[in-house]
Amino acid sequence: MTNIVKGKVGNTHSKKRREVYVMKKIAVWQMKGGVGKTTITFNLGSVLADQGYRVLFLDLDPQADLSFYFDQEQNQKRHKVNLQQLVQENRSLTEGIQESKRFSNISFIYGSNDDIPFSSIIDLSERLQEMEDHFDYCLIDCHPDAHVASLNALAACDLVLVPILLDKHSISNLNLVVRTLNRVEDHVRRGIPYRIIVNQLRREKCVYEAYRDLMMHHDYPVLETAICRESNINSALSLLKPIFKHRRKAKTSADFLALAEEVINEFRQIKGA
Ligand SMILES: Nc1ncnc2c1ncn2[C@@H]1O[C@H](COP(=O)(O)OP(=O)(O)O)[C@@H](O)[C@H]1O
Ligand SMILES: [Mg+2]
Repeated sequence: MTNIVKGKVGNTHSKKRREVYVMKKIAVWQMKGGVGKTTITFNLGSVLADQGYRVLFLDLDPQADLSFYFDQEQNQKRHKVNLQQLVQENRSLTEGIQESKRFSNISFIYGSNDDIPFSSIIDLSERLQEMEDHFDYCLIDCHPDAHVASLNALAACDLVLVPILLDKHSISNLNLVVRTLNRVEDHVRRGIPYRIIVNQLRREKCVYEAYRDLMMHHDYPVLETAICRESNINSALSLLKPIFKHRRKAKTSADFLALAEEVINEFRQIKGA
């Protein structure tokens, strides 16, 4: 593992004092695509890193390429080991850790377009154990399914963020999300806390009504912070930047800052940290 010095945060962006690194793992998962999993993973993790936390990103979605946000030299990717190879060859994940050349406090392991041959549901969980003292947060971007890689992410994490768009069927679909989570909980014999995060909130009557329905008629754990819909996010992503580095004053920059604060607080409650 390169340049990981326990107990130090070696850059000028560090705004918080670090004492211990017991890595908190957050899976961003849903059964639906296009709900903002990758956008939230990237922006939330980037805010945490900007605040001085050491963040490791894992990309379990074979379609997306989260690593591209952190390392534009994609042509080098072919020569670097990815998650699929590490698991296939039963090597330590630490061998694949790359530090972002673009952002401080961010490390990542290259994702892969091939399926990751996890040997069981708890394979990832076991492999992540040796990183516990090197990072504050591990953010895991997932594929929208309940296949073995996603189940590994759920089994490994301390908190699942479930983004939803308040469109047709979005709330009824949460049933399936919870059933899948329950299956993994039965398997790992522990509760896996999850929080719903509303994304692309907009000032439209139908959205407002769906939001009201979600809050008043269901008892899903919904985060107070919602991320509003803003085209700036897309411009930022096309420049491979988190929104706060593109438009610091954008509404969604404030939303992601609030989300980071709320997630940090959730961990205080979950882990008594
Ligand atoms: N809050 C938002 N405002 C505007 N566009 C958004 C927002 N969140 C996500 N998007 C856009 O929605 C699309 C799907 O988001 P993405 O993060 O790729 O979803 P997923 O990973 O769940 O498939 C992307 O084009 C992304 O830029
Ligand atoms: Mg995605």
